[in-house]
Amino acid sequence: MGRTYLVTGGAGFIGSNFVLTLLSQRPDAKVINLDKLTYAGNLRNLERVMEDPRHVFIKGDICDRELLDGIFRDHDPDFVVNFAAESHVDRSISDPSVFVRTNVLGTGCLLDTSKAAWQQGDSWREGKKYLQVSTDEVYGSLGAEGFFTEETPLDPHSPYSASKAAADLLVKAYHDTYGMPVNITRCSNNYGPYQFPEKLIPLIINNCRNLRELPVYGDGMQIRDWLYVEDHCRAILMVLDRGVPGQVYNIGGHNERTNIFIVKAIISHLRELGFEEVSEGLIRHVADRKGHDRRYGIDPAKIGRELGWQPETMFEQGIIKTIDWYLSNDAWLDEVVSGDYQSYYQRQYGGRG
Ligand code: NAD
Ligand code: DAU
Repeated sequence: MGRTYLVTGGAGFIGSNFVLTLLSQRPDAKVINLDKLTYAGNLRNLERVMEDPRHVFIKGDICDRELLDGIFRDHDPDFVVNFAAESHVDRSISDPSVFVRTNVLGTGCLLDTSKAAWQQGDSWREGKKYLQVSTDEVYGSLGAEGFFTEETPLDPHSPYSASKAAADLLVKAYHDTYGMPVNITRCSNNYGPYQFPEKLIPLIINNCRNLRELPVYGDGMQIRDWLYVEDHCRAILMVLDRGVPGQVYNIGGHNERTNIFIVKAIISHLRELGFEEVSEGLIRHVADRKGHDRRYGIDPAKIGRELGWQPETMFEQGIIKTIDWYLSNDAWLDEVVSGDYQSYYQRQYGGRG
C-alpha cells in the first residue's frame, strides 16, 4: 500500500532532490510538500512534479500549528521528514533569531502535531515515523585525527549548528518521554543540483562562469566531508524504512577535502571545458568565518552495517556532474542570483556575485 510522506522544506536543495528521488523510486508514494518558500525555497526545483497528482505542494510555515493540524487531518501522513530549516552558517552569524524560530520552534511544532495525531493512549499508531534531518555540525569541530560517531558529544559552535542541536534534543526528548517513533540523521556537506549559490560549491561555480573573485575564508585549509545529494536522499529513505526507532544515523562517504582543493578542482574542470580565462588567479583569501569549524569527518559505519547503505557517487564523478548541471541550467542560476542574492552578496563579501 502507498504511504504518505509529509516533507517539509521540500522546495529547498536537499528537500527537492528528496521529493524527486522518492517519487521516481516509489510509484505509489504520495508527497505532501510543505515549504515557506523563503529565499532558499524555489518551485523551479520541482518543475518535474508540479503536475504530478502524487505531489501536493502547500506554501506554509512549520511554525503554524493550525496549518499543521489541518494537513494532518486532511492527509494523515505516515512519515514526517523535516528538512525545513534556515541552513546557512554565515547568515546565522549575522542574524541568529530566525534560526531559533524555524529550526527550534518549528521542530517543536511539528513534533507536537505529530504526537497529537499519532499517539493513542500509551501506544502509537502503526507505521508512523518522524525523521529529523540533522547535520554533522552539531558535533562541533575535529582535530587532525578521528571521526564523528553517533556517540560523539554534541558541541555546536555557530548559531545555526546550535539551533540544529537544540532541535535534535527535542526530537530525542519526544522519543525518551513519550516513546514517539523517531529517527535523527546527521549528514555531512551535500553538493549537487539545485543548491543555492550562497554555499561554497555553487558559489564558486557561479563566480567562475562570471569571472568574478573566488572568496576563500582564511587559509582555505578547513576540511569538509562531501557527499553527493542523491546518496543522502537514498540514506534517508533507508532510515525511514528500516531505521530502529529512537536511533541516530550518521551519513557520510569518507570524502574529506580542504576548501582550497574544492575551489581548485572546480577551476580545473572548467578549464578542461574550455573556460580559459578561469584560473587560480581569481582566488581571494578573505577574512575567516567567525568561530569557523576546522574539520568535519563522518564515521558512517553504523548505517553501512545496520541498513546496508553505501555512497554510490564518488567525488570525482559527482563534482563533474554538478558543474555540468549548473552550466546546463544557467537560466535557473541566473534567476536565483538576481534580486535579493545580490544584496546578500554585497553585505557578505562586497561587490557582485
Ligand atoms: P535549504 O536552505 O536549501 O532549504 C531549506 C528549505 O526550507 C527552503 O525551501 C525553505 O523555503 C524552507 N523553509 C525555511 N524555513 C521554513 C519554515 N519556517 N517553514 C517551512 N519551510 C521553511 O537547505 P538544505 O541545504 O536543503 O538543507 C535541508 C536540511 O538538511 C536542513 O535541515 C539542513 O540543516 C540539513 N542538512 C543540510 C546539509 C547541507 O549540506 N546542505 C547537510 C546536512 C544536513
Ligand atoms: O556539514 C553539513 C553542513 O554543511 C550543513 O548542515 C549546512 O546546512 C551547510 O550549509 C553546510 O555548512 P558549511 O558551513 O560547511 O557549508 P558552506 O558551503 O557554507 O561552506 C563550506 C566551507 O567553505 C566552510 O569551511 C566555509 C568555506 N567557505 C564558504 C563560503 C560560502 C569559503 O571559504 N568561502 C565561501 O564563500
